[in-house]
Formats: sequence, structure tokens, C-alpha cells
Amino acid sequence: MSGLGLMVAGVAHEINNPVNFIHGNLHFAQEYIDTLLDLIALYQEQCPDTNSDIDQFKKVIDYEFITKDLTKVIASMKVGTDRIQEIVQSLSVFSRLDEAEHKIVDIHEGIDSTLLILKHRIKAISDRPEIKISKDYGDLPKIECYAGQLNQVFMNLISNAIDALDEWDAKRTSQERAEELAQIKITTTLIDEDKVLIVVHDNGPGIPEEIQSCLFDPFFTTKAVGKGTGLGLSISYQIIIEKHAGNLFCSSELGHGAAFHIEFSRLLVLDRNGICLTE
Ligand SMILES: Nc1ncnc2c1ncn2[C@@H]1O[C@H](COP(=O)(O)OP(=O)(O)O)[C@@H](O)[C@H]1O
Ligand SMILES: [Mg+2]
Repeated sequence: MSGLGLMVAGVAHEINNPVNFIHGNLHFAQEYIDTLLDLIALYQEQCPDTNSDIDQFKKVIDYEFITKDLTKVIASMKVGTDRIQEIVQSLSVFSRLDEAEHKIVDIHEGIDSTLLILKHRIKAISDRPEIKISKDYGDLPKIECYAGQLNQVFMNLISNAIDALDEWDAKRTSQERAEELAQIKITTTLIDEDKVLIVVHDNGPGIPEEIQSCLFDPFFTTKAVGKGTGLGLSISYQIIIEKHAGNLFCSSELGHGAAFHIEFSRLLVLDRNGICLTE
């Protein structure tokens, strides 16, 4: 895995630079195009004499269409580069798991900050009501973990729940949505004084049994092209299983939501190389 990880990190890094050139310059391209179009408009206004060559050329190139479409072309290029940046970022997280430090933290803070970052996706949008978030936090001591990476896991699980609820709500009538609110419940428990259990549960469409075995495979996604990378759960799996010697699994029944369970020891036992030895 580490050889592959290094290669992925290298490729992600190499892609990142050229994508940034394109992404950063699209903004200027849009600005320059707007300015040039303004200049043409000014010419038209100040020199309205018709010139048959210019008129003819404008017809041939379909000037009206070009001016309208240019902005859309740039906007869709921006969507494309945003998307590449997102994938590259996921790939770097995926392959650079060894870099971050382990710390002793309050994991409730991590969950709360993740919810804060995702607030724009949780609140009501157009005709979809706000997603209800309920927290049932246990009395947990501070936990030794790779905090940044654990937050990444919370982020992946909660955004998947939001995606599932969004998809479910898109198919429901407003009456159905009001009768059964889309909700996410996050529970934390201390088991046997030593183990931490965190469950992210949603009341969305659930996951068909036949795909439950591939959920954690890299690049497995059921989302439309451009929407899912299929990396969230495999990254989370790597973080929980390899970095925390823990357990991550899903329980779901079609039509009755999905729950993702994270379980690991509250103290990490590491060898000299920082490899987790906790049973
Ligand atoms: N809470 C959930 N409800 C329904 N399906 C889910 C849920 N979480 C994950 N999945 C399924 O697992 C797949 C893989 O998730 P993930 O690895 O995060 O990739 P992505 O979100 O990019 O598709 C999703 O495409 C979806 O089919
Ligand atoms: Mg995901």
C-alpha cells in the first residue's frame, strides 16, 4: 500500500499544479472577456454606421450566440477544475495518512466542527427543509487518535448521509418530507471503559444488501458521474482500520436508513515506527 500511496501522492501533486494554473486563470479569462465584450458594445454604440463586411462576419460567426455562450463555457470549465481539485485533494488525503500527528482530543469537538463546516448543506435549500441533526453524546474521556484524520472520517460519513437524504428528498413529495423529516443522528458511547463507539445514522433510503460488501472499495460509487469519487469510505476504512486498529462497518436495511459504526480503543498503542498495535 505504501508504494501505491507514494505514487498516488506524487500523481496528485503533479496534477495539482497545472490544475491550479487553469483554475486561477479562468477568473482572469472571464474578466478579460467581459472587458472585450464591453469594448465591442462601446464600438457599436459610438460607431453605429453599418459596414457590410462586419455585419456579414457577425452573421457567419453567430456573434449573438458566442457572446451568450462564452460565459457558460467559462462557468463549466470552473466546475470542471473545481471537481479535479476535489479529487486531487481526496487522493492526497488518501495517500498521506502517515504524515499527521496523533493527539489526545475531545472527539465531540471534532464532530461539532465537522457539522459546522457542513452547515451549508444541512440547512434548508429551495423546497427541501433543513436536515434535522440530533446528537446523543456519551460521557467520553479524551481520546488518543489521529484527530485530523478522524475528522476526515466524520466528514465523509456525514456528507454521505446528507447525499443520501438529498437524493431521498428529491423523490419525495413536500407532504412526505414534512411527515417524516430527513434526519441524521450521531451517537457516541464508551464501552468497557476503553472502547469508543461512534455511530452516524440517517433515516434515508438505506443501502441495498448486494452493494454493502463493496461500499469500502476504492472508487466504488453509485452517484452520478461528477458527483461521487467513491473514495470517502475507502479513505475512512483505511483511517479507522489501519491507523486506529479499529472497526468500521455499515448496517442498513433498504428503506430504513443506514448506520455507520466506528469503533476503536481510546488509547493507541504504537510501535517504534508509529504503527498501531492496539488489538
Ligand atoms: N448513508 C448512506 N446511505 C446510502 N448510501 C450510502 C451511504 N453512505 C454511503 N453510501 C453508498 O456508498 C457509496 C460509496 O461512498 P463513498 O466511498 O463516500 O463515495 P461517494 O460518496 O463519492 O460515492 C456511495 O456512492 C453510496 O452508494
Ligand atoms: Mg462520499
